[in-house]
Amino acid sequence: MVGLPARGKTFTARKLVGYLSWLGYPTQAFNVGEHRRVTVGPGQSHEYFDPANEDAARQRAGLAKDALDDACRWLRQAGRIAVYDATNSTRERRRSIRKRAEAEDFELLFVEIVNDDPAIIEANLRETKLRSPDYEGVPEAQALADFRKRIAHYENEYETLGEDEGAWVRLRNRGAQVVINRVYGYIVGRVVFFLSNLQVSDRPVWLTRHGQSVFNMQGRIGGDASLSVSGAEYAQSLAAHVRDAFPAAANLDVWTSTLRRTILTAEPLGLQTGSWKALDEIHAGACEGMTYAEIERSMPGEFQARRRDKLEYRYPRGESYLDVIHRIDRVLIELERYRTPVLVVAHRAVLRAMVAYFQQLPIVETPHLDMPLHTVIKLTPTAYGCLEERVPLAPQVEN
Ligand code: SIN
Repeated sequence: MVGLPARGKTFTARKLVGYLSWLGYPTQAFNVGEHRRVTVGPGQSHEYFDPANEDAARQRAGLAKDALDDACRWLRQAGRIAVYDATNSTRERRRSIRKRAEAEDFELLFVEIVNDDPAIIEANLRETKLRSPDYEGVPEAQALADFRKRIAHYENEYETLGEDEGAWVRLRNRGAQVVINRVYGYIVGRVVFFLSNLQVSDRPVWLTRHGQSVFNMQGRIGGDASLSVSGAEYAQSLAAHVRDAFPAAANLDVWTSTLRRTILTAEPLGLQTGSWKALDEIHAGACEGMTYAEIERSMPGEFQARRRDKLEYRYPRGESYLDVIHRIDRVLIELERYRTPVLVVAHRAVLRAMVAYFQQLPIVETPHLDMPLHTVIKLTPTAYGCLEERVPLAPQVEN
């Protein structure tokens, strides 16, 4: 990461770690500020960050190097992507990172966050910095004044990325402008695409499975069955709930899969809906339309293989959970880009993958998340994570 303090680097780093881990790439952030707080203790005043303060500058360079060492060690041992979350605001600092990456044979991408909108910087300061352990017990006005001086020290020596600094992306004013320099390759390309769509927003995302289907009643998987009587009742309850909980429902975007059970569930809402093929349920291939008991009886090897590793198991001629994660990637990027509330009416495996993304859960937990029928899940992003509220609606049925 590259950028002045309070520009949203840590928020971006956290989202990036969540996204890449969710896609299955072991990813971890290494934050120099956190390393400082653990190593020398929190609470340094702005003088500590003044480049003219030579002792402190030496100490800060040491802390930055320690965190980079940790990142490199982790990459050599277990990791795939390390997000080095620090200001890295001078060409000199970035040159040393490049030298290190070249020596270790790691690929390097700089992500520069630039913000010159005073309202956004002020909001960022208030939302995150005032809660930092650096200012615990410090009156708000004093903390704000000190942090502004800290920023000014960095501003004095800040150098924006140059064209000769390799692969980088610069995000200005929360994605209002995105500049890309020498970015080639699959993973870095995905990182850039994700970051250019990322919004800082607290608008909620609502998720629900379709109402109970005839196949659900029979314990059959896959297919394109219609709703049961209870499922149709749930569709009515959902419409009433949305009207109550969201009076400006006309501003709500409703996304379904292309399968009948989700489209019928959304119908009573009376809103325009968009259907995504990418939101269809995990495809069970040769097992479509079967019950689990039938699969166990006629394909015991498949049944056991799925039990052993539900994340990577792929149905014969069908999909795995990992396949589902990769196919709904574009829906999530679209959700990140959206500024208005969205209700997604989809399926168990797809919604498990979505909740795992928003809650930044370990990927292996995805196939085991509780995802009951006839329940609305409201996810509200915050600066530090995501609030989750679950509302069961009538009629309650077995899964
Ligand atoms: C910090 O110590 O809080 C930030 C260090 C840096 O990245 O400049």
